[in-house]
Amino acid sequence: MRDGQPNPVTRLADYQPPAWLIPDTTLDVDLRDGHTLVTARLTLRRNPERADKPEDLVLDGEHLELRSLTLDGRELNPGDDYRLDGPKLVIPGAPDAFTLTSVVRIEPEKNTALEGLYRSNGMYCTQCEAEGFRRITFFPDRPDVLSRFTTTIHADKSAYPLLLSNGNPVDAGEEEGDRHFATWEDPFPKPCYLFALVAGDLACLSDTFTTASGREVALRLYAEHRDLDKLDHAMDSLKRAMAWDEQVFGREYDLDIFQIVAVSHFNMGAMENKGLNIFNTSCVLAHPDTTTDAAFERVESVVAHEYFHNWSGNRVTCRDWFQLSLKEGFTVFRDQEFSSDMNSRAVVRVENVDFLVNHQFPEDQGPMAHPVRPAAYQKIDNFYTLTVYEKGAEIVRMQHQLLGAKDFRRATDLYFERFDGQAVTCDDFVACMEEVSGLDLTQFKRWYSQAGTPVLTVTDDYRDGEYQLTIEQHTPATPGEPDKQPLMIPIKLALLDGQGRPLPLDDQGGTETVAILREPRQVFRFRLPEQPTPSLLRGFSAPVSLRYDFSEEQLVTLLAHDSDGFCRWDAAQRLYFAALARIIDDGESAADQLPRLAPVLERVIARAAEDPAQAALLLGLPAENAVGDRHAPLRPQRVHQAVSGLRAALGEALADHWWRLAEQFDEPRYQSGGDAMGRRRLRRLALAYLAAAAGQGALDATRVGEYLGRDFDQPTCMTNAQGALRDLVHNGLDDQGRLARFAEQWADEPLVMDQWFAIQATVPGPDTVARAEALLDHPAFEWTLPNRVRAVIGTLVNGNPSAFHAPDGSGYALFARALKKLDGINPQIAARLANGGARLKRLEPDLAGKLGDALRGIRPGASANLAEVLDRILGA
Ligand code: BES
Ligand code: ZN
Repeated sequence: MRDGQPNPVTRLADYQPPAWLIPDTTLDVDLRDGHTLVTARLTLRRNPERADKPEDLVLDGEHLELRSLTLDGRELNPGDDYRLDGPKLVIPGAPDAFTLTSVVRIEPEKNTALEGLYRSNGMYCTQCEAEGFRRITFFPDRPDVLSRFTTTIHADKSAYPLLLSNGNPVDAGEEEGDRHFATWEDPFPKPCYLFALVAGDLACLSDTFTTASGREVALRLYAEHRDLDKLDHAMDSLKRAMAWDEQVFGREYDLDIFQIVAVSHFNMGAMENKGLNIFNTSCVLAHPDTTTDAAFERVESVVAHEYFHNWSGNRVTCRDWFQLSLKEGFTVFRDQEFSSDMNSRAVVRVENVDFLVNHQFPEDQGPMAHPVRPAAYQKIDNFYTLTVYEKGAEIVRMQHQLLGAKDFRRATDLYFERFDGQAVTCDDFVACMEEVSGLDLTQFKRWYSQAGTPVLTVTDDYRDGEYQLTIEQHTPATPGEPDKQPLMIPIKLALLDGQGRPLPLDDQGGTETVAILREPRQVFRFRLPEQPTPSLLRGFSAPVSLRYDFSEEQLVTLLAHDSDGFCRWDAAQRLYFAALARIIDDGESAADQLPRLAPVLERVIARAAEDPAQAALLLGLPAENAVGDRHAPLRPQRVHQAVSGLRAALGEALADHWWRLAEQFDEPRYQSGGDAMGRRRLRRLALAYLAAAAGQGALDATRVGEYLGRDFDQPTCMTNAQGALRDLVHNGLDDQGRLARFAEQWADEPLVMDQWFAIQATVPGPDTVARAEALLDHPAFEWTLPNRVRAVIGTLVNGNPSAFHAPDGSGYALFARALKKLDGINPQIAARLANGGARLKRLEPDLAGKLGDALRGIRPGASANLAEVLDRILGA
């Protein structure tokens, strides 16, 4: 790992069942200032499934100082009885059944990697997935060793009045020296990655939920005292998620208590530890004064997601980390369905597809491309990817589509019942789908094992009353996978007549069908009275990239009339991409696009009040990264000019409409709920268009600035305050020092300050690199706080292409310096951010050279996490 050495690789093909099982684990965690002592008593017995009976017991352990080790009460000696072999503890000739007790010393105070036991704002908390438990004690740190945990925590009583772990509280009491203890027992065997512990002085919001079978569950949400008023939305979301999982999946909660703790320092969004979820504050705290609508929606879906894991992940878990999508893809599908049922299904679907297409597709087409079930990894942390999560969810969704809702439910019932309490594979999941439906999903399973986004090329022909759709599939090569096999692809479609009405496709008058593509090329035939406009891939029925030579007229028809929300949005996107391509590749101007585009937008605006959220989706231009990814080589400045120029031109040309929308949807007072959010979203979009035009001198900057200034000065909620500030600052309209005022006002609200940092890091243009440098020196900037790092570096690198790709390479230099610094603090976060360099090979040569040099410069001495990502990007 040091000095450019390759990392060791773990392969799916090498999987072997564990040699010993651990029915019971008793932990005693003694929290002291400066260090913590962990005593672990493990009952071990040989796994009968492991026929080869290995001699050595091997346990994982990292950053542990071993104080003592006893086997059935006999003290073991280093050398003779055991050896420490790097991150492994090896006990040769271990008996078939015994009790092993270890005492280790750890230093949570010094843990900035935020894996294992660490501190955040004066509290102790844990993060064990994927391989963090080995930083707490010696253990077989793998998901297929399920153990019953009993945990006792000791700590100072006044600093840590609250002591939590998984399961139910069974004992508590006072101890000498103003200390106390609490014991928790989790009756459900679980892998150690689901272990959690919290000690702190926290405020609590309590409620109860009565399950379908009539059991009362205590619900407790914890946060720092000053955040107690920000827990209501999470509680409400939790109760709705619990009821939904009963109704839609027949899944009831199983313990008497469910707890969520909010922590500031957290690598990910949230974690589904059994009965004791731990959340990034950003994914649980919400209040209209401090939290945007987008963040409210995220809280709802993350709370649901982690709750749903109680069945899809905890009761039925993964055999090994290659199966990660078994729990993550399935649970993302479940949280997406929940959000669809709680909000507008069409809007949620488009949001999910937008995210997939503009983030997972690029991953699948870049150096990090990997199958949903990878065959090998260096650091598993690097495989919590959009492919495993989002494409994984699409694979589950396709099975839902293929089976139909009823059989899908029967299949998940079978899955949960058959595998309850077990650690299983993606194959086991699909086998349930096959068993219930009678379908043969052998070919379908290639979706799990083959990387890359399939490209469908569709051509059509109409003659003699017959419409022929010819569909070809081709998956481009990905790193290490040159040859691809054809997939089974469900393509939902309708065929629209000249007025945009769906034509009947069968004798029953059905207007929608699912064509199942299995071959590299297939022809589908329909008897039709006229040449139709095809409405293809409805609902985005498969995660593929679809090529069809739509005429502009067809796209306008689809956008205006298609009943499928995805197809309408896709039509709008195609119109925007086409206009932008004419600017980027053909040298046309933004103004040249107006005669064609403006009337299209006007039609959407005319109907915007019917569904403001959907109108906002239809009226929004694609992000610069999405545009850039459609042009080779990638020329980020040119892309930025095109997108911002088109936005300003549309802002000017449709100014009257935007003003009218801004006025029409102006809210006198804050309103909660999905409809109000939709109205705010459309209004903010209208104002963003106006601000863009004003910023380029195409509209009266004073008028727009004053209007936004009012939104900012007397905001009804954070969505408006922050949106206004962003529009002002990004378009050079903040002549009243509002940015500085915002920082003064919100200095004590870290999540709001993250927004303040992010707004500045996303000001377009190369000058922002220097601005970001200055932000890194701001007193409120903290390298050890992942949310803050993401707010500055993450948004600059991933959300501000015209700054990151500054022609002089200064953005890359900042990027590389930040990665190096972070790697010494938190390698997971460093590696995650490094993915921002994944477009290297697509860049125009001068930029590619500069980015490559910058990244090569930090490869020596990189952590295993960072090294894996850098090597992929650099093609080493
Ligand atoms: N199990 C993960 C959290 C996790 C991921 C822990 C990687 C350790 C390493 C959790 O269920 C999850 O998926 N969280 C997501 C949010 C979710 C709504 C998709 C996250 O943290 O981003
Ligand atoms: Zn998850």
